[in-house]
Amino acid sequence: MSGPDHASLARRAREVLDRNRRGAWTCPSGELYPHLWLWDSCFIAIGVARYDAPRAADELRALFRGQWANGMVPHMIFAEGVHDVGSRRLWQSRNNPAAPRDVETSCITQPPLPAVAAAHVARALPDDERERFLADVYPRLVAYHRWLYRERDLRGRGLVTLIHPWECGLDTTPPWMDALRRMPAPWWMRLALGLHLARVVRFLRRDTRFVPAAERPSDDDGLRMLVLARRAKRDDFELRRMPADRSLLIEDLAFNALLVVANRCLRRIAEDLDETIDPDLARCFDATPAALDELWDEPTGQYYSRQATTGDRLTTSTVATFVPLWAGVAPSRVTPLVALLRQPRHYRPQFPVPSVAVDAPEFDANRYWKGPTWINMNWVIVRGLRECGEMAMADELRDRTLDLVEQTGCFEYFSPISGRGFGAEEFSWTAALVIDLLGDEHPDDDVGDAPRAR
Ligand code: GLC
Repeated sequence: MSGPDHASLARRAREVLDRNRRGAWTCPSGELYPHLWLWDSCFIAIGVARYDAPRAADELRALFRGQWANGMVPHMIFAEGVHDVGSRRLWQSRNNPAAPRDVETSCITQPPLPAVAAAHVARALPDDERERFLADVYPRLVAYHRWLYRERDLRGRGLVTLIHPWECGLDTTPPWMDALRRMPAPWWMRLALGLHLARVVRFLRRDTRFVPAAERPSDDDGLRMLVLARRAKRDDFELRRMPADRSLLIEDLAFNALLVVANRCLRRIAEDLDETIDPDLARCFDATPAALDELWDEPTGQYYSRQATTGDRLTTSTVATFVPLWAGVAPSRVTPLVALLRQPRHYRPQFPVPSVAVDAPEFDANRYWKGPTWINMNWVIVRGLRECGEMAMADELRDRTLDLVEQTGCFEYFSPISGRGFGAEEFSWTAALVIDLLGDEHPDDDVGDAPRAR
């Protein structure tokens, strides 16, 4: 670690989190993302827990205000008083009887990190508060995990199916966008794309008001994602009602790998509370690690997402391939992945880890999830490397990540080639995870997210 400057980094990161604070919760970025997002709030809680555990507990409680009666935790909760008509109209959550009455939410979910965040927060709370906090969130966590398996693993195979790229968190990641492009489109959309009219979606977009369009999802991808969400709305966003030929149904790699970690954390929380996960849910938990291994592709030595209906692998390599390291995988999987992480022309450019390999045709250093380095992915990979015993590599990636943010600022994402920052300038998860990485010098802290006792 390059040392003394990091004290000021921690201070600056806290300032970002204070500026983005909205009472009990924290938005990802004041201008660009003024609402609450699921996995952002989890990362925020993990970082904030390092210095203000009660605030971190509130962050998760605020996240659960959006939980639906069926257990779903939505990917967004709309902030009161923020004018964002386009986005609210798309979801209209209150039309669904299961949605909460007092807040408006989206109708899809995001990577299932609440149990992981709850474990981090619980570790930081004093004993009496810890018990109260866990007793509060435990039934909500169980309801969420139950919903994931009941509503999104219809064949009981152990893998959760996602219905929209916004659910995977790596929104415009090439495998999802390729699959989306291959879907049959309505005539008017084909016409709009053919005549390059997709630019009209800019009127509905908030992001391009604040950030150059070249750093954001393309208009074509934006239009396709919007149309997909409107199609899913016709079926009330319910997987069991969605026709295979008009839907994009994907067993997403990163999501399911994170689910393995989250299940582990939830089991640990249950133990701490002297609760028992019911046998049906426990069987689901047990099925996921083996099912995750089906996403391994031996010829290329990588993991990929796959189409839920056809079983076809989406074989564009992305940073998601490394997420299973955290889930705990066999050594025969670790070796090729670690080698890939070491190669400059793949995943080890000047400022790792790029969201797409730098030598891939899809790579674009400046555009959103098509190449830039994202701090949350680095954080996940640091934890993954630790899990598989690659301590020196984990420490090196942690230090490089801290140096990058130290030099550039708490941006949303970074060019892996030049280190330039893009997107939101004061991005909460960058700030929060930097704080967590700074406190991570004692990696034997066990919050229950490790596959085995350390
Ligand atoms: C972007 C990211 C998504 C995140 C959201 C709010 O859409 O792709 O993962 O949750 O911004 O920060």
